[in-house]
Amino acid sequence: MNAPIAVAEEAVENTSGETTETEPVWVEAGRAWGHAAIDWAYRFEPYGADAIEAVFGRLGVDRGTDLLDMACGSGFAAGRAGRLGATVSGLDASAALIDIARRRAPSAELVAGDMFDLPWADGSFDAVTSFNGIWGGCTDALAEARRVLRPGGGVGLTFWGRGDRLDMRDWFIALGSSTPQVGEEMISLASIGSPGVVEEMLTTAGFGDVERWDAPSILEFADEDDAWRALRSPGLVVPALAAVGEDELRNRLLPTIERFRAADGSYRIVNELTCVVAWAT
Ligand SMILES: C[S@@+](CC[C@H](N)C(=O)[O-])C[C@H]1O[C@@H](n2cnc3c(N)ncnc32)[C@H](O)[C@@H]1O
Repeated sequence: MNAPIAVAEEAVENTSGETTETEPVWVEAGRAWGHAAIDWAYRFEPYGADAIEAVFGRLGVDRGTDLLDMACGSGFAAGRAGRLGATVSGLDASAALIDIARRRAPSAELVAGDMFDLPWADGSFDAVTSFNGIWGGCTDALAEARRVLRPGGGVGLTFWGRGDRLDMRDWFIALGSSTPQVGEEMISLASIGSPGVVEEMLTTAGFGDVERWDAPSILEFADEDDAWRALRSPGLVVPALAAVGEDELRNRLLPTIERFRAADGSYRIVNELTCVVAWAT
């Protein structure tokens, strides 16, 4: 087990009240991502199941692997790695999601903190993953991943694939149109999927032999209320809720997935995740 050098959780607890001018960006991000933690954990986060399995397979994660999952959310991937026999550590900005992750991955070392300032020593891990946690503009987080990897270690990432392969494309567009802040942030984050961008980020951070492929990502909802609880749970939705209000946002977002609704009222939404692995040079 890799004990973190300094656990940042205290910082979260100390700042869990009102936003202050000195509040770090990651604490604010963590509060947003934890705003509907149960709904994110159980209605949304299973979207990564197929991609997580594929990335762990390419990285050779199994018994004896020291694995770090960065921006681990509510621990869906960390739990899976633990069941494969890996020794798992994880970090996420949201203390609420980390609480759920501790139930999903009981033997893992899970901490609240900032992926741009990992509390582990150089060369602590055989593999580092981040499932939809590292995006455009996050090269410094990849450099942290490289720092905590042992020589020859592998990194694995996922992010949303091409727009024309996303059943949720119209949902992304409607959410991005809700406020200029959300729209601009989504464009910046999604830039990682443009040709050559993740490859350049990885090279800059000290990785080589980049391999990239696509995996299906399935979301299933029992009914309209189930769908809405899932769709309002990501942290990116928080500023949109504040800007236009719950009822208006629901009226704008739910119609974007109406065509994926069956006669019994349930939904099946098929997206594509881009998966990437690379190796420490
Ligand atoms: C799209 S979710 C991904 C969660 C999970 N890995 C998954 O498979 O879905 C993005 C996650 O990044 C976390 N996050 C955002 N900024 C962060 C930061 N600076 N440091 C650590 N985690 C961060 C959020 O709290 C959230 O859990």
